[in-house]
Amino acid sequence: MRSTQIRSTFLDFFTSRGHRHFPSSPLIPSDPTLLLANAGMNQFKPYFLGEVTPEFPRATTIQKCARTSDIDNVGRTNRHATFFEMMGNFSFGDYFKADAIAFAWELLTQGYNLEKDRLWITVYQDDDEAEQLWRKIGVPAERIQRLGMEDNFWSMGVPGPCGPCSEVNYDRGPAFGREGGPAVDGERYVEIWNLVFMQYQRGEGDKKGDFPILGDLAQQSIDTGLGLDRLAAILQDAENVCGTDLLRPTLTTVQELAGRDYPGSAEEKVSFQVVTEHARSIAYLIADGVLPAKDGRGYVLRRLMRRAVRHARLLGIDQAVLAPATASVIANLGGVWPELTAQAALIEQVVTAEEESFTRTLAQGTRLLNAAITRSRENRSTTLTG
Ligand code: ALA
Repeated sequence: MRSTQIRSTFLDFFTSRGHRHFPSSPLIPSDPTLLLANAGMNQFKPYFLGEVTPEFPRATTIQKCARTSDIDNVGRTNRHATFFEMMGNFSFGDYFKADAIAFAWELLTQGYNLEKDRLWITVYQDDDEAEQLWRKIGVPAERIQRLGMEDNFWSMGVPGPCGPCSEVNYDRGPAFGREGGPAVDGERYVEIWNLVFMQYQRGEGDKKGDFPILGDLAQQSIDTGLGLDRLAAILQDAENVCGTDLLRPTLTTVQELAGRDYPGSAEEKVSFQVVTEHARSIAYLIADGVLPAKDGRGYVLRRLMRRAVRHARLLGIDQAVLAPATASVIANLGGVWPELTAQAALIEQVVTAEEESFTRTLAQGTRLLNAAITRSRENRSTTLTG
């Protein structure tokens, strides 16, 4: 199933069940506590908190999300990305666990025709109710696992609404990892859909990520996120998102620039994926108004561009890479996301300037480093001082 059909299947399913379709919010959130939009629920935070009463009790979206917490895993796992589209359905004080679970099961097994036997469920360690609901729907006990706060309790990472969650995971088979369910191997049993049972309000967290629960929300709500990249990889039988119709044209562009085929060596395989995946994030961030800077979200963008350029050089691409790679993202996805096409000229201008200046910095830094290494060798030293 192509990604356009995956999106429309999702939206048709939920709009025909009383959900109003809202557009994605921009990657620059209106919420000042957030650097970048990181989940479909962001734009609905005041509804979950009960600060604003929504006109519609049910909503559905396909949200652009940027997350850099797993940036080092891009290309090293099959499931991490710095940008992705999150398909979500939301209830604001309307339906709760039972319907959220029933909707997810019906859509996955009938809408997307995933084999029931490959679906594994995780629930929060104390959530007997969620486990019972999954059992009732037909999931055998041995494919339901209980996990703790870290895996099965969701918040935005900042103060706001939160709650226990239940994840649907798909068994990609022994070629992807060890037996034992999502508790054992997240690469083989890949999380595709997270159902969050919003019912608490959280406070500020400490450095370890622990945070206090301040109390109950006025109403119980539902927030879900189904990852388009991961579902597309499964439905298109691709190892990861770079093999799906979302990014394959961009991977092809990178292969042409490198003059060699993906995957190559293990390290080249990582580099191919980093350049391809980051090109997408870079295009969407600039289209939404992020510009390179020394700090904040502008620094996130700069870091993505520098990583992409560095990995391109590792692949032997010595000419400009960001402009052609982002151009292929725009050509492929601009029909679905018109802001990419509208900002194509700006994207080209920003990435070209940044790549040129980074290339100069890299050359100058390499010269300085080589000179320091030579001096150090002349002194028969094998270390460089700080
Ligand atoms: N907000 C939930 C998530 O991002 C659905 O996983």
